[in-house]
Amino acid sequence: MKNLLIGSLASIGVFVAVHGCRSMAKPMRPGAALYSRKCSSCHSLIEPSRFDRMTWHHYVEKYGERLTLEQKQQLLYYLTDSMQE
Ligand code: HEC
Repeated sequence: MKNLLIGSLASIGVFVAVHGCRSMAKPMRPGAALYSRKCSSCHSLIEPSRFDRMTWHHYVEKYGERLTLEQKQQLLYYLTDSMQE
């Protein structure tokens, strides 16, 4: 079990190393951490599937005013990830 965990962490690491910087279109989930850190202090986290892209975009602008542009993009990528496939 532990090995499995380490194994998958390692492969995520490799994936990030390989794809992280080059494909700006899809950074690996830094948005997930950002989302739980920045957006859960006032209300519980809302399922990403609950809103469409436009709506998330609106909310990220509305509530993410303290985030940098890059952070907003990461957050939005995370929230709308499944819609980009
Ligand atoms: C300073 C407190 C605060 C923070 C931080 C915050 N929110 Fe909110 N959020 C609220 C309040 C209050 C409401 C409900 C009132 C409203 O809808 O305007 C709300 C409502 C929402 C809603 C609408 C929920 C619904 O059911 O319609 C979304 C989506 C949302 N927030 C997303 C975010 C995201 C994304 C972040 C992080 C970037 C975030 N919030 C951070 C205070 C906050």
